[in-house]
Amino acid sequence: MSKDTLSITDNRTDRQYEIPIEYDTIRALELRQIKVKEDDFGMMTYDPGYTNTASCKSRITFIDGAKGILRYRGYPIEQLAEQSTFLEVAYLLIFGELPSKKELDYWVYRIMRHTYIHENLADMIKSFRYDAHPMGILVSTIAAMSTLHPEAKQIHDPQVRLKQIWRILGKLPTVAAFAYRHRIGRPYNYPNSTLGYTGNFLYMLDYMNQSDYEVNPVLAKALDVLFILHADHEQNCSTSVMRAIGSSHADPYSAMAGAAAALYGPLHGGANEAVLRMLNEIGDVKNIPAFMERVKKREVRLMGFGHRVYKNYDPRAKIIKKIAHQVFEVTGTNPLLDIALELERIALSDEYFIERKLYPNVDFYSGIIYQAMGFPTDMFPVLFALGRASGWLAQWVELLEDPEQRIARPRQIYLGPGERDYVPVDQR
Ligand code: CMC
Repeated sequence: MSKDTLSITDNRTDRQYEIPIEYDTIRALELRQIKVKEDDFGMMTYDPGYTNTASCKSRITFIDGAKGILRYRGYPIEQLAEQSTFLEVAYLLIFGELPSKKELDYWVYRIMRHTYIHENLADMIKSFRYDAHPMGILVSTIAAMSTLHPEAKQIHDPQVRLKQIWRILGKLPTVAAFAYRHRIGRPYNYPNSTLGYTGNFLYMLDYMNQSDYEVNPVLAKALDVLFILHADHEQNCSTSVMRAIGSSHADPYSAMAGAAAALYGPLHGGANEAVLRMLNEIGDVKNIPAFMERVKKREVRLMGFGHRVYKNYDPRAKIIKKIAHQVFEVTGTNPLLDIALELERIALSDEYFIERKLYPNVDFYSGIIYQAMGFPTDMFPVLFALGRASGWLAQWVELLEDPEQRIARPRQIYLGPGERDYVPVDQR
């Protein structure tokens, strides 16, 4: 008997089954042969939230949650954050290898050539209410892009796919900046591709016709590193949505609008916004013990803590903490930092958090940096989306090139009523 199998005994029937094991995994469909009666459906697994279900084989991002390791295509996140740039990392995620100098120059050139958006899209952003959440604007605008680029439906043509990738990476910062300018009632700044990816983004956000306007290189670099840290995180909620919508062969804009909507939620990309609201609500270091009591009574969650995968310090949080200090040297310190540091100190020494392996995640400090840079709180998840777009695209391409992938269509355990007859309304 081969060793790479799992022996299962069904105690209902005393029948034995040998299920092949590959990569420490069994194929769920192998369980279907396990039946009591011949006409049974067969066995399934039940896994709400997919906590122990692999939905794909991937070569993009590796995470060891217990050891706090994150690598993109094999490269440690710490090395990429220190030595690479966001657009180079985006290339690495999508194509699998670091680009040559020539490949990188062409990649950056193509993306920066796609920073302008269709005027219809700019008009659409203008039509939102003055206080519209920029994440709502981003989700709608990405969906609307599908109507402006109908050839994007040709998802099996690699050249067409590549063009949409340039477009999406090029245009998202423009959409995000316009959404912000709309919210603060200022005219839009059209892109200036000579300023680099994050430099151009800061320019579109901030430029006010100053003759001496210059992008602050420390802030542009900090944003670039934050984008790298958020670029991919394997099969998280929004990426799973990108793959699920992509599996129906929808165009990438429609799939990405869904992914961005998933990112909007406070348990995912909305967490950095929620951290800031929480720190403001706590208001002072002296209020922390009372807040922690509420957390332990499960009345509130300590936002920015805990992760489905990391049961150790999130490696991204370590890098972010370092960037925070560089940013504060430019912007001046943020009073919320003291509250955050004290919360972290208490949480890391408190039995409740230790027992549950709850450590700061990527969002615990990113919000404080964004606030120091002058971003309003509701822009935080938008910034997360700008970085994560590269990962969504890489995962989408991998899905389309994987012959084993089929339309996402989970099963359910039906517990509702059996068949019953319809009763007309006047007889109920
Ligand atoms: N504060 C207090 N208790 C917590 C927290 C928290 N932030 N997170 C988990 N717990 C407790 C939870 O109550 C449970 O305790 P018990 O077993 O006694 O009921 C235990 O820890 C396990 O929690 P869970 O909800 O089963 O864990 P999960 O893997 O389903 O949830 C999570 C992961 C990230 C949704 C959760 O930790 C959370 O809500 N954190 C706060 C929101 C947050 O910061 N999200 C950003 C995640 S990082 C960015 C991203 O990738 O999107």
